[in-house]
Amino acid sequence: MQTIICKDYEEMSLRTAAMVADIIRRTLDALISFPGGDTPLGMVREFVRMVNEGELDISRAKFVMLDEWVGLNVADEGSCAYFLKTNLFGALQHPFADVFQFDGKTGDVGAMLRAHDAFITRNGGLTVSVLGIGMNGHLGFNEDGVDFSMRSHMTLLSDTTKRVMGKYFGGRDLPLTHGVTQGVAQIMEAKHVFVIANGEKKADIVARAINGPVDNAVPASVIQNHPNGCFVLDEGAAAKL
Ligand code: GLP
Repeated sequence: MQTIICKDYEEMSLRTAAMVADIIRRTLDALISFPGGDTPLGMVREFVRMVNEGELDISRAKFVMLDEWVGLNVADEGSCAYFLKTNLFGALQHPFADVFQFDGKTGDVGAMLRAHDAFITRNGGLTVSVLGIGMNGHLGFNEDGVDFSMRSHMTLLSDTTKRVMGKYFGGRDLPLTHGVTQGVAQIMEAKHVFVIANGEKKADIVARAINGPVDNAVPASVIQNHPNGCFVLDEGAAAKL
């Protein structure tokens, strides 16, 4: 596992996008997963710029969603699908090969999770996964205590996640209790994994993930065991390393 420390958010975003683009240039039919949340916005914007300006060909690439709030879908501002529609899929001016999106309002979560898992398997596993890290060390909605062997699944939101989620919904506390997510097994099978984090508020959990024991109390610590795992941090998030 590698750790890259950047001077600020912009450098973190540009470097991550450049590394992702290099992987896609080597693997044209890549299966790509980007997170929602605040952290990836700069990285996604740079990725879109590269595609739209003809620096990166994604015509054979596919995307698969990392996670979603159960009860929300692409129509809901603050959902992961809304973030991706607004900043990625709706902004790309060139076609890509395919995408699997979660619908947190589906009446059959089990069928959606089986289809999500099958989509990832059918495409040979993830080529590149970019992940944020939650304040409790979660990856996607793999909350503290998660079973590292799980694949696509539904989970209870942790108290920490429920405490901070208002920031995605204009400060409103929505009555959300569950999330759907790729599992740690699928993330660990990805060829390349980048965990991005910025700001001093993430410094404690980032230090535990990188320097602490590999333990499901801090799910992101599992990335220590990934042969091509990489934390890309700004100086604030790296402050306690
Ligand atoms: C959210 C999402 C994750 C995201 C993480 C960090 O709850 N489930 O996919 O990566 O928490 O979010 P942020 O980047 O807003 O800090």
